[in-house]
Amino acid sequence: MDLLIELKEKATGSAGEARALPYAAYIDDDLYELERKQIFHGDWVFACNEFSLKAPGDKFAFNIAGEPVVILRGKDGELRALSNACRHRGTLLADEGFSSGTSNLVCPYHSWNYTEDGALRGVPYPGNVEINKKAHCLPRFALTVWNGLVFVNIDGKAEPLEERLAGLAPYIEYNINGEVNTGTEDKPEYWDTNWKLAMENAMESYHLFKVHKPTLEVVSPTRGVTYLEGSAHWSITAGEAVNPLPGWLGWLNRDLQEEGYYLLISLPPSFVGVITPQGLFGYVVTLPDGVGRCYVRGGSVSRNLRAPRGLFKKFIDKFLEEDKLISERAYKGMTARATAGGQLVELERIVVDFHQYLAMRLFDAKPDENYKCQEAAKRLKAAEPA
Ligand code: FES
Ligand SMILES: [Fe+2]
Repeated sequence: MDLLIELKEKATGSAGEARALPYAAYIDDDLYELERKQIFHGDWVFACNEFSLKAPGDKFAFNIAGEPVVILRGKDGELRALSNACRHRGTLLADEGFSSGTSNLVCPYHSWNYTEDGALRGVPYPGNVEINKKAHCLPRFALTVWNGLVFVNIDGKAEPLEERLAGLAPYIEYNINGEVNTGTEDKPEYWDTNWKLAMENAMESYHLFKVHKPTLEVVSPTRGVTYLEGSAHWSITAGEAVNPLPGWLGWLNRDLQEEGYYLLISLPPSFVGVITPQGLFGYVVTLPDGVGRCYVRGGSVSRNLRAPRGLFKKFIDKFLEEDKLISERAYKGMTARATAGGQLVELERIVVDFHQYLAMRLFDAKPDENYKCQEAAKRLKAAEPA
């Protein structure tokens, strides 16, 4: 319990006085149980983009902190989120990841089968036993789509996502313009780290100059990063996107002409996205797979058909590998008890917002008001094309 008291104290700190969280918070089993319930099962959690589930029968199965979920496009065109655990003896119904087929769910164990809205349709060889079909439906979870991105809420009690993200609209409109119509999804990978470390790492740009010296720092230097606006609910930083000097990243000039600024958006608990000047909204999702293991997957939505493939994909894989190594290395330090986390610098303000999010969900703490850096907003406005 001492840990919770210390965590609350650290996580409610405002920018300027904020500290890193207690290291024990990244390896504690009891805290993880609390996070599962109040964060991952109590809040909206990003699943995948809706364009990867175009046809009836398209499915995406994944696991939200222990809860197996399948998102399914029905024959009626509707997207539904259902429990992916069979009501007979719990076997996973849809394969994890993306799959297609009929819009029914058929258990691979004894073939109990369900309709697209989760009703139990058939039970082979029941013998003399009468199965009460109504009592064996698959639970359905709340689902919402925001700018082509699908979110799920397990307990159905989270406040409407649209309202919570209303303040993001002007930023999304600038590059994305509400016109996303295509998307890509990568295969997940697993990192040996706690989900909070992976999430903090994904959102802060303080480490670019050191960890990503040969990759991200070349095209989005640390010195060009500014915190723009945010609160516990969402935060944005802006960064200068520069043309790299000729070298191994020279192709970026040709292929993407990344000039202007990019926006980095953090939507806790598990989504961090980058909107490029060309209207590509790339993201990374980090979900826990136990206390010390993390599921990480990248993808994108965009308003045109140009998907980030080829060299661009190689570039992403390279900097994700750099992130994986440093996140796993940071995790190894979390057993230290002879030392404690230090002060966060200005570039980590986005991490302070994330900590306030944790405090809000875990302890009902009241977060700071939304903060907007007027100076940065003015500069961005001036950089917008007429
Ligand atoms: S576990 Fe699904 S049919 Fe038996
Ligand atoms: Fe990184």
